[in-house]
Amino acid sequence: MTPDTDTAVTVHPAWLPDAATAPLRDLPSAVLGAGPCLETVRSELGRAVPVPEAALVVADVGAVATPSDVGLATLPDVPAGGHAIVRAPGRTVVLGADGPAALRGLYALARSVALARLGAPAPAAVTVSAPEQPLRMLDHWDNVAVHPVMGQVERGYAGGSIFYADGEVRADLGRVRAYARLLAATGVEAVGINNVNVHAREARLLTDGLGDVARIADVFRAYGIRCFLSVSFASPRLLGGLDTADPLDAGVVAWWASAADRVYAAVPDFGGFLVKADSEGQPGPFAYGRSHADGANMLADALRPHGGTVLWRAFVYDHRQDWRDRRTDRARAAYDHFAPLDGTFADNVVLQVKHGPMDFQVREPVSPVLAAMPRTRLALELQVTQEYTGQQRHVCYLAPAWGAVLGFRLDGSRTVGSLVAAGGGVTAVSNVGDDPFWTGHPLAQANLYAFGRLAWDSTLRPEDILDEWIALTFAAASPVALTRIRAVLHAMMDDSWLRYEGYTAPLGVGFMVTPGTHGGPSVDGYEYSPWGTYHFADRDGIGVDRSTATGTGYAGQYPSPWRETYESVETCPDELLLFFHHVPYSHVLASGKTVIQHVYDSRADAVESLDGVEAAWESLVDLVGSAVPAAFDARVRERLAVQRESAVEWRDQVRSYFWRKSGVPDASGRGIY
Ligand code: GCU
Repeated sequence: MTPDTDTAVTVHPAWLPDAATAPLRDLPSAVLGAGPCLETVRSELGRAVPVPEAALVVADVGAVATPSDVGLATLPDVPAGGHAIVRAPGRTVVLGADGPAALRGLYALARSVALARLGAPAPAAVTVSAPEQPLRMLDHWDNVAVHPVMGQVERGYAGGSIFYADGEVRADLGRVRAYARLLAATGVEAVGINNVNVHAREARLLTDGLGDVARIADVFRAYGIRCFLSVSFASPRLLGGLDTADPLDAGVVAWWASAADRVYAAVPDFGGFLVKADSEGQPGPFAYGRSHADGANMLADALRPHGGTVLWRAFVYDHRQDWRDRRTDRARAAYDHFAPLDGTFADNVVLQVKHGPMDFQVREPVSPVLAAMPRTRLALELQVTQEYTGQQRHVCYLAPAWGAVLGFRLDGSRTVGSLVAAGGGVTAVSNVGDDPFWTGHPLAQANLYAFGRLAWDSTLRPEDILDEWIALTFAAASPVALTRIRAVLHAMMDDSWLRYEGYTAPLGVGFMVTPGTHGGPSVDGYEYSPWGTYHFADRDGIGVDRSTATGTGYAGQYPSPWRETYESVETCPDELLLFFHHVPYSHVLASGKTVIQHVYDSRADAVESLDGVEAAWESLVDLVGSAVPAAFDARVRERLAVQRESAVEWRDQVRSYFWRKSGVPDASGRGIY
């Protein structure tokens, strides 16, 4: 672990420990090119020598006139945003399409060196890699000032903000620099640095806070990462003294244009604005009778002269619903609001769509909005912070869930990954804080790592990404220790998402969480609330009828074949059955079990499987203090105990609730209350 100048605590190096970069740093190297990222490459490497003597050459291909400049006979093609690695006899050459790409290429080389220690086959003489998604972004729901309800990091489970402390931007951005480095090594190229719920203090980042925003942007720039700001749609009123924020008002238009001018004067490579409008109480164009397109396009006009982008969120629904009203369906809302607007957004607007129609549940169907707007640039929004997936107290490796979304053939032919790659990309809510392990649970680091890697290439297999993370994170371990750690972490993590789903909310039922915190079980916690998140369990059955024939019609928002697949109880996959249908407890699943028996068994089985998880970690005890740092081990143990306690609570509450509700006994005879 390396000391953090910022907080005087020791910070875990995550997937870039010294041992991961040492094999490159120890080589005589030459670096060609100029700019902040090439300077970073130079600082990562050690002994500088002329090209003919260098064992490692890293170059921005723009600085290479002829192959001999980098000591090669021919130059490979280097794709936009990507890199090529040439392994010639006695020399390795990393060529980036530009400075940021050269830096990412260097980290890719470190990754491949680490993987070799896990026995990966030797890479080809020339490997070329290009990012699948143009936008690969992490959003931080960080508040500058601690919010009375949401704290400093909304839905943060890893301590305070790495950007802000004591109501200000931190004076020492050392931790931000270390974070930027970690992100660059995964391929991430943009960050949003403040909460989408923009409170009064945070709104001012756009005006009198610009000097601080520029300091943060300087840090990220050295790692090829652009900064975005979340802005309040009401800024002209809140900050500009105008009496309106109407997007069609000339004064409002002029205010935003000059706001954008000032931002770009401070941060020339600023990414743009991220906007949560008319959503959960945030201001938006509806107050003035204007549409989302009116609002987004006005901001897009302000950013256009500077090359900036508006990321406009599609997370819009009625959060003041009457639970008695069974016709309103929150799942329908994003499509109903946005699909009719397809083709009306400016070309520098990207519509940011949550992966499912509800809200980052452990399992949801893929949002139909992603197939409904072919003339709109779209980005997929994921949640790395584990709001509904264990809050970084439970082990829950999310790459399998995200891989399934990205690989889903939503229109029957193209994958979600390719749909969003066409004009937008992938964004996610970050899971880091000022915790010494970055992410609370040390194993939650793997989620942050996996997000960047899947945004780069959505076809990567989750277990291979986990191998990368293990090989890098434990680069200092001996080969024997590394092999054992690898086996243990796969045993703990490969199925951890399914395990978490098993003891919480399977069959697509969702929620059942404690209101407000969203941690821990409360089966009816949101059942009679205004939030539109219901399971409709009664004495006979459970689930939400979202069919077109008898329900809310949500299934009809999908293109074929999914609308037919989801419409029918017969063809709807088990894992989404209760999302689409209200069925009797006696309904027999494709698995052959009744729904009620699945309710009982899934919880009990998943908790029993924790025995294996705990035993796996325990088996590494002799490596603690050597290959596994003692503090890492202590934190994992602490979290495993919390996970067990919480999972038991989920199991017992859910099983008892449904036994009392249905009166149907559990055929397995396991404990019920
Ligand atoms: C969830 C989360 C909120 C957040 C919101 C959003 O509902 O609980 O804290 O603000 O998502 O994505 O905007």
